[in-house]
Amino acid sequence: MTFLYFWFSQAISLALAVILNPKDEVVLNSPNFISYYYLIQFLHSLVSESPRNEDLSPNFELLSKKLTSKTKLIIVNSPNNPTGYVFKKKEWEELADIVIENDLYILSDECYNKYIYDNSLQFFAFKIIMKINFKCNDASY
Ligand SMILES: Cc1ncc(COP(=O)(O)O)c(C=O)c1O
Repeated sequence: MTFLYFWFSQAISLALAVILNPKDEVVLNSPNFISYYYLIQFLHSLVSESPRNEDLSPNFELLSKKLTSKTKLIIVNSPNNPTGYVFKKKEWEELADIVIENDLYILSDECYNKYIYDNSLQFFAFKIIMKINFKCNDASY
């Protein structure tokens, strides 16, 4: 799916509006970018928060337990606002397994991928076959 957009917020809003129906559930690692919560609420869908580990890495065991029959979407943001956490390759793979296994949509907001300066934390493109590959990777700020 491709969107033409001006601001990332616009692209995210459009993607959420296309995917979500009222009462659908969206799982995300918390804390996370605040707008996701309000946009989901605006569409009358529900947020299910999965707290991060102490080192701010995602806890996929916990996240899996948050999935219900109403879960439609997982939102990820790496590098993350506000934690700064960058997904590692094995975490992208683990996430991909969960998404495929549970037939979910994934919204991957990667708008800060140009701000990774540590080579050991290379951006790893999320290239799996999915229903929607929504990638914000052309940040110009
Ligand atoms: C993770 C994340 N996604 C999206 C946005 C929204 O970007 P824009 O200001 O281009 O709408 C922000 C802005 O702070 C952000 O931190």
